[in-house]
Amino acid sequence: MGSRQQNRIVTLDEFIIKNQKSHDDATGSLTRLLRDIGIASKIVNREVNKAGLVNILGDADSGNASGDQVQKLDLFANRVMIECLENSGECAGVASEEDEKWIKLKTIKTRSADYVVVMDPLDGSSNIDVNVSVGTIFGIYKKLTKSKSGIKETDFFQKGHKMVAAGYVLYGTSTILVYTTGDGVNGFTLDPSIGEFCLSHKNIKMPDFGIYYSVNQGYYQKFDLEVRRYIDNCNDENYRLRYIGSMVSDVHRSLFKGGIFMYPNTRKYPHGKLRLLYECNPMAMIVEQAGGLAVDCKLNRILDVEVTEIHQRSTIAIGSKKMVEDFMDHVKKYSA
Ligand code: AHG
Ligand code: MN
Ligand code: MN
Repeated sequence: MGSRQQNRIVTLDEFIIKNQKSHDDATGSLTRLLRDIGIASKIVNREVNKAGLVNILGDADSGNASGDQVQKLDLFANRVMIECLENSGECAGVASEEDEKWIKLKTIKTRSADYVVVMDPLDGSSNIDVNVSVGTIFGIYKKLTKSKSGIKETDFFQKGHKMVAAGYVLYGTSTILVYTTGDGVNGFTLDPSIGEFCLSHKNIKMPDFGIYYSVNQGYYQKFDLEVRRYIDNCNDENYRLRYIGSMVSDVHRSLFKGGIFMYPNTRKYPHGKLRLLYECNPMAMIVEQAGGLAVDCKLNRILDVEVTEIHQRSTIAIGSKKMVEDFMDHVKKYSA
């Protein structure tokens, strides 16, 4: 009888530390920052999981910086993420969906804080009340300001392709953290029994094509003609429509099964609804790293779009390479 070989568990912390050697962050500061984001997401996960039991469900009194209704768990996730980033000592500042202005963090006097973080602490918050998946999105940039803990607005106004790392956490049927440092994409599933994210999806490659399309079809009449023609094509081809209302969940499905996610401009959102800095850019980096594409409805590569405002909105079509190319062909053909 041959002995059964047990796969050795690789935890997120172990993986990040091992990986540190393969990129030029010899100081380990990016490693520490990523680890602390991992810790923050475990805390957010704990609260998301017990959201039905305690009084943190439902709307908080205020709207967020973008005027959307904020749910209490958004604010909790925002606070936890900021606290963990501050504790890491590696992050000079953070721009969050939940804060109108970017925030300068307290740093450790003897050490320089080289990074800024952009984040959507809780994505898909309308799903919380009904026990449907939500997520966290983050992107990390090296700051441009040279002084030790100095930071300026322009540190956040860097194009997406300047990100040194990006990731998301999906609080779904299980909790999974997916991230990239520009050298492929890896996924880690939280094992609640040991409280660790364990490597579960190594070197994720997105299928070039899939049968899923994801768009709020309720706004169909409000989309531009060329977008409508592409959606008609999805219908003609019998692609399956899936729309969760949390970009993280919808893009996550495409990442593994193949598919396209779109949020085009509508009358209400003439520039698109999603935010370039902390929603579109991090998801675009991950998808591109996995072999997919991300463009806006004017066909600019998302990662090359100029950032001029923290809460800047963008249209987006993101997903499997061949499907996004097909979307682009339709836009070219019908907007002519
Ligand atoms: P958030 O909960 O962070 O505000 O983001 C929700 C976003 C995105 O995740 C989702 O795809 C989209 O809004 C859904 O918008 P519609 O309800 O307009 O389709
Ligand atoms: Mn969001
Ligand atoms: Mn959000």
